[in-house]
Amino acid sequence: MDIINSIVQRKSCRTFSSESLKPSDKKQLEEFINTGKNGLNGETVDFILLEKSDTDVQMKIPYGLIRGNKTYIFGEIRSSPVSRINYGYLLEKIVLKATELHLGTCWVGMFDREYFNDVQIETDLVIPGILVIGYASEKIPVKEKLIRRAVNADKRKPWESLFFNYETKEVLKKQENYKYVESLLMTRLAPSSGNTQPWRIYYSSENNEFHFFKKITNQTYELKGLHDIDMGIAMSHFELVSLKNGLKGDWQKNDISKINTIDDLQYTMSWKCEN
Ligand SMILES: Cc1cc2nc3c(=O)[nH]c(=O)nc-3n(C[C@H](O)[C@H](O)[C@H](O)COP(=O)(O)O)c2cc1C
Repeated sequence: MDIINSIVQRKSCRTFSSESLKPSDKKQLEEFINTGKNGLNGETVDFILLEKSDTDVQMKIPYGLIRGNKTYIFGEIRSSPVSRINYGYLLEKIVLKATELHLGTCWVGMFDREYFNDVQIETDLVIPGILVIGYASEKIPVKEKLIRRAVNADKRKPWESLFFNYETKEVLKKQENYKYVESLLMTRLAPSSGNTQPWRIYYSSENNEFHFFKKITNQTYELKGLHDIDMGIAMSHFELVSLKNGLKGDWQKNDISKINTIDDLQYTMSWKCEN
C-alpha cells in the first residue's frame, strides 16, 4: 500500500476485535517506531507499544466510545506547543504505517491518564494523546456511526477554506504550484481532534514556501494542546506525500516578526521547497 492509499483508506476505528497484534505486525510496527524517533527541531520521542491483557479492565474514554482494543501507542514529551506539534508529526507516521499493515487506529486526546499509571513517566513530562490500535471489528455498531456523524468525520472543509496565496491572501489557485496539489489534498484528509481541521496553509510564491498556520476552532481542544497535535499531523501528511512525489524540502520556523499577521491565525512552521 503506498502512502496515498494509506491516507485515503485511514479512518478512525473505535470498535476492535479482541485479537492481540499478530507477532509479524507487532514486529514491523516496533521496528518502524524505533527507526522513526527523530522529529522536528531535532526532538526525539520514545514511543511505547503497550499491550494490556484480557484480565485488565478497559480504559474509560470520556468522549466517543472505543471498545475491544488491547494495544496502545504513546510517548512522553515536555508540555510545550513545539513538542506537541512534533508528537503529532511523529505519531501520525505510525498511524499511516499501521494503516498499511491493515490495522485500525484512533487518536485519543481525552483519555484516562491513570490507566497508564504502571508506566513510569518522568515528573516534568506528559502524555499529550494516545493511539488506540488493533484489528477493526467487522461490525460497526450504531453508536460508532453516530459518533462519526456527530463530528462529520467523513467530511472535510473545502479547498477554498484551507489553502491560500500568502502574498494576495486569495484562495490558492492549483496552477500556482500544481506540483504540490496532491500534498495539499492529502493534508486535507488528515485526522484532527473533533474533526476541527485547524490547519490553514499559505503558499508564498515569492519565497517558494508553504506557511502553516493554526486556526483555533475549539477552545477545549486548544487548552488541552490538541490543536498543536493536529498541526503536526497535517505536517506529516504534507511531507510524506511531497517526498513520495519527489518534492524535497525542509521544515523551518521563520522568525515570527518576518511573518505577516493573518486574521486570528497563529503561525506554526513553514515547508521550504527545494525545487
Ligand atoms: C489529536 C486528536 C485527538 C482525538 N481525540 C479523540 C478522542 O478523544 N476520542 C475519539 O473518539 N476520537 C478522537 N479523535 C478522532 C477524531 O474525532 C477523528 O480523527 C475525526 O473525527 C476525523 O475522523 P477520521 O479520523 O475518521 O477521518 C482524535 C483525533 C485527533 C487527531
